[in-house]
Amino acid sequence: MKFLIVIFCAAISVAAFSQQKYEPDWESIDTRPVPSWFEDAKFGIFLHWGLYSVPAWGPTDGHIYEKYAEWYWRRMMQPESTVGKKFREFHDSVYGEGFKYQDFVSDFKAEMYDPNQWAELFKDAGAKYVVLTSKHHEGFALWPSKHSWNWNAKDIGPHRDLAGDLSEAVKKQGLHMGFYFSLYEWFNPLYHEDVERYVDQHMLPQMKDLVIRYEPDIFWPDGEWDHPSETWRSTEFLAWLYNESPVRGHVVVNDRWGSETRSKHGDFYTTEYDLVHDREIAGEVIHHPWEETRGIGGSFGYNRNENLDDYESSEFLIHYLIDKVARGGNLLLNVGPTADGRIPVIQQQRLRDIGDWLRINGEGIYGTRVWENAPEIGGETTVFFTAKENDLYLISTRWEGNDITVEGVNRPRSVSMLGYDGRVEYSFSGNRLVITPPALDPASNPSPCAWVYKISGAL
Ligand code: GLC
Repeated sequence: MKFLIVIFCAAISVAAFSQQKYEPDWESIDTRPVPSWFEDAKFGIFLHWGLYSVPAWGPTDGHIYEKYAEWYWRRMMQPESTVGKKFREFHDSVYGEGFKYQDFVSDFKAEMYDPNQWAELFKDAGAKYVVLTSKHHEGFALWPSKHSWNWNAKDIGPHRDLAGDLSEAVKKQGLHMGFYFSLYEWFNPLYHEDVERYVDQHMLPQMKDLVIRYEPDIFWPDGEWDHPSETWRSTEFLAWLYNESPVRGHVVVNDRWGSETRSKHGDFYTTEYDLVHDREIAGEVIHHPWEETRGIGGSFGYNRNENLDDYESSEFLIHYLIDKVARGGNLLLNVGPTADGRIPVIQQQRLRDIGDWLRINGEGIYGTRVWENAPEIGGETTVFFTAKENDLYLISTRWEGNDITVEGVNRPRSVSMLGYDGRVEYSFSGNRLVITPPALDPASNPSPCAWVYKISGAL
């Protein structure tokens, strides 16, 4: 009998263990539950920082992808294309034909870089996580990667572990830290000669090094489109990440693991300026955790060519965040630091405004989920909903002077407006709630651009 019990217990523990163990294939990888902190977080800050922050230039017109200043090197090497020509002309006239992209490293000094100040700003902005480009398509590593010998921020340029210092500062503020990592490298000869060796001896060792050194909560690959995930050995890396790595319990990853993986695999799907590759997805509800990313202007890397009119307003960005959250997404808003390590003041100002709004209204954002009964969201929608436990939040992005009707709810315990102490009048019958917006004066108005009604106990 005792013997049988021992066998029985052993079987149970093997079963429990095998539930935790992921095989290196998508079928198995896709069964991993997504750590809920990510969907609760809603708002993160992306940082694109590298040698491209030195020329810091891109066109301000054309298709969205053509405006990216972080594509400078690739673009200047394609002068025969319409967009490449613009970069090449700028480059030749400012730096001269003989000036190589690599030469920019002597002006990448980060002498004003204060990671604690950045991390405080991100916290003030109400962000819950930060994602830094550990290495963009140029291949320049922001950490002392021995696999990018003499092509990393510690060996040359700033002579500093930019990634490690930010990771430490961000974690000190209680925020989650993550790394963007480009799988491909435009001009790495090994990548072009022998992709298998590149993956085996360069890319995978770099990815593991990043994870082991800094224990990030997010791993954010990109530059995956040249090859299927099999070539990148993505499921093998993910099985290691989920089974063995030091961050296996809480790490989250995106969907950029190979030419076939976007919107299919990964803890969360990504959209970029409302696009998945070239497909417009604005307005869709995505039934999987997802994250939209964009810059405050039209580029990720800092673009000196952009003027105030190229930057979105704080109001636009707050409305943008609300739209994504109401559709079940997160917003990863990008800032582009300068080569000397400053975050441009106008970008700081946008972040502060978002933070001011979130300090009062964050209850209707953080930790919420899609309200299944919500009316469909379209381009003209100005009334959005989010749900948390039994409470419903109605977020109005335009001041509504008239009554607002909500269908499909239970009788609420109370209705209030976040940040406003006065009473909010309402009536209820059937499953229909009618809210009468209060008469606000400048002193009692809690927001310049979006008002949140908390409808307690309506779900
Ligand atoms: C893209 C671009 C890139 C940017 C990124 C952000 O794939 O190549 O420059 O880093 O996506 O989502």
